[in-house]
Amino acid sequence: MNNRPRRLRRMAQLRNLVAETRVSKDSLIYPLFVTAKRDAKDEISAMPGQYHWGVDRLPELLDRLAALGVKSLLFFGLPDHKDEIGSSSWDENGPVQQALRCARFRHPEMTLIADVCLCEYTSHGHCGCLKQDDRGSWTVDNDATLPLLARAALSLLDAGADAAAPSDMMDGRVAALRQEMDRQGFLDRAIFSYAAKFASSFYGPFRQAAGSAPAVGDRKSYQMDPRNGREAIKEALLDEDEGADVLIVKPGLAYLDVVARLRERTDLPIASYWVSGEYSMIKAAAARGWIDERAVTCEAATSIIRAGAGMIITYSAPELAGWIDEGFLR
Ligand code: PBG
Repeated sequence: MNNRPRRLRRMAQLRNLVAETRVSKDSLIYPLFVTAKRDAKDEISAMPGQYHWGVDRLPELLDRLAALGVKSLLFFGLPDHKDEIGSSSWDENGPVQQALRCARFRHPEMTLIADVCLCEYTSHGHCGCLKQDDRGSWTVDNDATLPLLARAALSLLDAGADAAAPSDMMDGRVAALRQEMDRQGFLDRAIFSYAAKFASSFYGPFRQAAGSAPAVGDRKSYQMDPRNGREAIKEALLDEDEGADVLIVKPGLAYLDVVARLRERTDLPIASYWVSGEYSMIKAAAARGWIDERAVTCEAATSIIRAGAGMIITYSAPELAGWIDEGFLR
């Protein structure tokens, strides 16, 4: 036998030497939920280990993340009032705006990314404002939503965000954001675009966490059909054209084929969003003793990087950082 692949698997250091994939703390982005209830630290029941953070309690989390070496954050907000157009998303004293100011001051070394979407802020829970279509049913009004998203993004950048991450899936929103950001002088702030975001059932726990489930209907008229891989590439390349700096594919594990294909088609950095349902499934199975949580979580993170993503948006970021320190994940 000329070929014996087992030769390079003989001992741990040799396996580490030839490993093709390395997961670094620098590639981790931690999503967090900030609530208008200032003193809250309330566990999210569908996402064990994740909390609604009031801005007064936030330093405790930020200091812990900094000590662990998790230095990129993605912010979501739970406002205290909602309306038809999501106007609380551009309230300069909204929970995320306050959290950004707090984080910017306390940990200037961190990269702060603000999710830009209206679904947490609208009374109907859709990602934009509504209009009646020619059949008389309600739908999200694409072009009327664009200036609202831009307004929310500017407010978040003004509060200190380094990047805006539009997750609404309206057509043309990257161009709309880039234009307004340039006009207002945010020339140096990035757009992390949820370029290929699928209408996924894996978002279930998040919608409970963010109170953002649509009151009627679903998101299938704006988020992508899970059956479409080629269309995902088209969406991503459109966003690149419109000025996106980073392309996000979402969800994570179930959509790594899209990451791998996109890696071949763009030179932009790619992030994979390992979403709430994927996180909670691991937590639930581990709680029952069915899987080894640490081993499965590390394997999943490794698979995302192996597929071609340079960044992982994950609720497990603090745990992964700890496992990197312990040498379990390398
Ligand atoms: C907002 C948004 C969602 C998620 C991130 N941004 C929910 C949705 O589109 O319904 C999901 C994140 C997760 O499940 O972890 N549009």
